Formats: sequence, C-alpha cells, structure tokens
Amino acid sequence: MNLVFLGPPGAGKGTIAKEAKVFYSIPHISTGDLFRAEQEKGSELGNKVKAIIASGQLVPDEITIEMVRQRLSQDDTKNGFILDGFPRTIAQADALAGIVDLDYVVNFVVDKDAVIKRISGRRFCKSTGRTYHVIYNPPKVEGIDDETGEPLYQREDDAPERVATRLEVYEKSTAPLIAYYRDKGLLVDVDASPAPETVLENMKKALTK
Ligand code: AP5
Repeated sequence: MNLVFLGPPGAGKGTIAKEAKVFYSIPHISTGDLFRAEQEKGSELGNKVKAIIASGQLVPDEITIEMVRQRLSQDDTKNGFILDGFPRTIAQADALAGIVDLDYVVNFVVDKDAVIKRISGRRFCKSTGRTYHVIYNPPKVEGIDDETGEPLYQREDDAPERVATRLEVYEKSTAPLIAYYRDKGLLVDVDASPAPETVLENMKKALTK
C-alpha cells in the first residue's frame, strides 16, 4: 500500500506512522527524520538544510524531491511505504506523481490549539528518534529515554516562535494539497483529535473502505 500522511505540524503523523508501518509491513519514510539524520551525521546535505529547518521554513523542492526519489528507489519500498511529511508543496506532489502511484492520502484533521499543545510538549531521543510528550506520552523518568537512558531534547523548530512560522507555511504551501488530492479521489480524512490508539483504528477502518 502506497500511503501519504498529510496534516499540520504536530498532528500526530509520525506517531501513527510508527504503528501503521508495523501493521502494514511497509517502511515509514519521514522527510523530517531523513533531514534530521543528515544533520546528526554532519553531512553536506545536513549542513545545507540545518538553518532552514531551524527557521521553520521549507527546504527547497529540488533538494527534497531528489532525496525522496532516491529513498523510493530502495528495495524495501517495493510493497509500499508511508510517506510522512512529503509532499508539502504542489510541485512536490506533481513530482511524486511522476515517480509512483498512490493508494491513499491520509489527511490528519486536528485543530490549531491541539497541535500547539502537542508540539510544545514533544521531546525526543537524539540517537533513536523515539518521541514522547510530557503529558500525553511521558517517559518513565522525566527527561530520560525509556530504553537507552539518554537525555531527551526539544526540537529546535518546536520553539513557540518557530511553530507559528511552521503553521503559516503549512497553511500557505501544504494545505492546498488537501484539495489537490481530494480532486484526484485519493484523500481520506481522519479525525486526529482523539488518543493515538483511536486515531490508528479509525484510519485502518477508513483505508479498508
Ligand atoms: P517534520 O519533521 O516533517 O515536521 P512536521 O510536519 O512539522 O511534523 P511534526 O514532526 O512536527 O509532527 P507530527 O505530525 O509527525 O507529530 P508527532 O507524531 O511527532 O519536518 C520538519 C522540517 O523539515 C520542516 O519544517 C521543513 O523545514 C523540513 N521538511 C520536512 N519535510 C519537508 C518537505 N517535504 N519539503 C520541504 N521541507 C521539509 O506528534 C507530536 C506530539 O504530539 C508528540 O509529542 C506526540 O507524542 C504527541 N501526539 C501525537 N499524537 C497524539 C494524540 N493523538 N493525542 C495526544 N498527543 C499526541
């Protein structure tokens, strides 16, 4: 199954993708995670995108499209994939259409207040990428990853002023993809406001219709 997860920053796309990839036995490809991994490695790409990501703006289309093209050429995507955070512009969506056919585009619907609460409480482990929330999904010991015992961090782009920019960028550049994919008959709306278990179950039901 070839899936795209669409939705505002902090909607819970990554959280649901981590469960859905196991259920559907397909890889979870998050462009945000790929960029963060490049930054951790200190690669040329990572250094190039660091300031852009920290500012809350989008990485240029040509860089992002090429990275996704390369990832989708890998063997593990033959039986499907979850693309999380890509496409984010009409140009990216047009490019994706030239690479693969999609089965569904899942639109995670949640209001702005909820995403701000989710983003402001998010913490993550740098080495594993595991994500927590200080209230909704706290670690066993505050500030410490459950499995590695390493400290948890807040993403630089999760600072309040960056979140405002990311939400503006989402409205301007990414929200138009909702109509784009609805017109193509690919869009499935999923209410992302309940707890993750409920969101996952609702999505699974919606994808069998
Ligand atoms: P990216 O990493 O993709 O960030 P994003 O889209 O802003 O999405 P998030 O990771 O913030 O949110 P999410 O929906 O995955 O939420 P999560 O599950 O973590 O991109 C970062 C940057 O990279 C971009 O700003 C851009 O610069 C660049 N980039 C990436 N892709 C690009 C592209 N295609 N083109 C150009 N640039 C690109 O959940 C959030 C929190 O809420 C967590 O703490 C979680 O525990 C909690 N939570 C989740 N679900 C629930 C729930 N149902 N109830 C309660 N709490 C919940």
